[in-house]
Amino acid sequence: MFPWARLARAAPSHLRENCEKSTGFNRFSSHTLTAGNRPATGNRKTANPPWSKNMHDALQKEIASYEKRTPKSAAAHKRALERIPLGVASNYRHYEPYPLFVKDGKGSRIHDLDGNEYIDHNLCFGALMAGHCHPAVVKAVEQKLHEGTTFGMPHEQEWELAEEICKRYPVEMVRFGSSGTEVTMHACRIARAATGRDKILKFEGAYHGLHDTALVSVKPKAEDCGDPDAPNSVPGGAGIPKNSLENVVVASFNNLKSVENRFKQHPGQIAAIILEPILMNVGLCMPQPGFLQGLRDICSKNGALLIFDEVKTGAKLAWGGASEFFGVKPDMICLAKSIGGGLPLGAFGASRAVMDLISQHKVFHGGTYNTNRVAMAAGLATFRQVLTRENYAHVGELSKKLTEGYRAIVKKSGLQAYVVSAGVNGALMLYPKEIQNYRDWTKIDVDLWRHYWFAMVNRGVLPQPYWWDEQWTISVQHTEADIDKHLAVFEEVAPALAKAQQERGLAFVGAAGH
Ligand SMILES: Cc1ncc(COP(=O)(O)O)c(C=O)c1O
Repeated sequence: MFPWARLARAAPSHLRENCEKSTGFNRFSSHTLTAGNRPATGNRKTANPPWSKNMHDALQKEIASYEKRTPKSAAAHKRALERIPLGVASNYRHYEPYPLFVKDGKGSRIHDLDGNEYIDHNLCFGALMAGHCHPAVVKAVEQKLHEGTTFGMPHEQEWELAEEICKRYPVEMVRFGSSGTEVTMHACRIARAATGRDKILKFEGAYHGLHDTALVSVKPKAEDCGDPDAPNSVPGGAGIPKNSLENVVVASFNNLKSVENRFKQHPGQIAAIILEPILMNVGLCMPQPGFLQGLRDICSKNGALLIFDEVKTGAKLAWGGASEFFGVKPDMICLAKSIGGGLPLGAFGASRAVMDLISQHKVFHGGTYNTNRVAMAAGLATFRQVLTRENYAHVGELSKKLTEGYRAIVKKSGLQAYVVSAGVNGALMLYPKEIQNYRDWTKIDVDLWRHYWFAMVNRGVLPQPYWWDEQWTISVQHTEADIDKHLAVFEEVAPALAKAQQERGLAFVGAAGH
């Protein structure tokens, strides 16, 4: 997820210059124009918008077809721009020429404002392994709507959901929140309190939400990255205090040497390593064998905590999340997205000893909407009736079918790419060999990826969220027929992608150039 550039472009020019200097947002310059930069006539087709510069003909055609099919989204976006920055509620939802505006969704499908139907593998950036309107979630939520939605008082569902979580993940106590950002923020604070240290180690390219500790080196510009064994801490936008930046140490994913280096450089100062066990904000990047265990050992040796940010993997990778899947036990876990069945729900957990810092009033945690009854009911229904062993078997079959189908089509078409998946997530990676870290990911061909995305969308499949650092999600409500249609559409699109790739040769602009 990384439309950071939009922040920079939307700012007044003196601020923008500052912002670009300090954050490198300008790397997205060919894709970053906001409404203010569009032709004043509002006619997107008359002028050649700068974000379309150097696009392959085939991509231009797909975008033209997208504009033809979705005029109501264009109009809705234009109107939204008057009152909402970028016309969207989260920067990640904005892209050129304009985002699809959604009307409704049910099961595995959604409709846009023009009535076009899509098989949905965006699923709210992976927050809906339940699919849309899962009957068990709807029933549980409906009931609570009539019994009172929120009281700011304890209730019995809290214990019930904490039990469900402690059954699956290696934690003894849990507290709840409403988003991933919130729970990774609390986890970092607790780790600092538990160790009496200020620094948190994170990986270059990893996303853990929007708080000051997390928004560092998320998508740094190549020239700002520095030594791969000791990467620079690059702010992910203006407004992050320098003092805060000093307390975030960055290492390279799949590079244990870089992690050991950082611990040597900051002896006794690193409170925790926070990581996604599978790096999922660079497409999908698997940990190499031994990497997670290596981190476990480094943390144990240095008295630091290991925090698994399982906002994406917790529900979607396996019944017991990444610790079950990889057999490595973290000290803390953070959960959000798919555990809420579509409602805003987050949780963080650890051993009793660590969580007792809250019980002893040493670390403060609160929140008006924590454990509101609607989100808790959705969470309970999700754990008990959606994230079941049978459903993991069902989505596992679908994931296998989709992954193997993609691989066969890639091979047949001659596309230089590979396909990777884990649990219900997967991605087409437009790069010939497996990426190991963020810097590898910056080499993927972005315009070819856009060609893929718009071509799929124009044919009724939302293959993943927009942005080439995302991945597909399969919900429990997807069917074999959905996967067959997805594959049929990819089969139709792949030869054009292979052709465009050959014609563009090595002249493409990688993700780092955008
Ligand atoms: C791994 C990870 N952690 C944390 C977050 C932040 O979650 P939220 O958007 O709910 O604040 C995200 C969001 O995409 C994420 O992918």
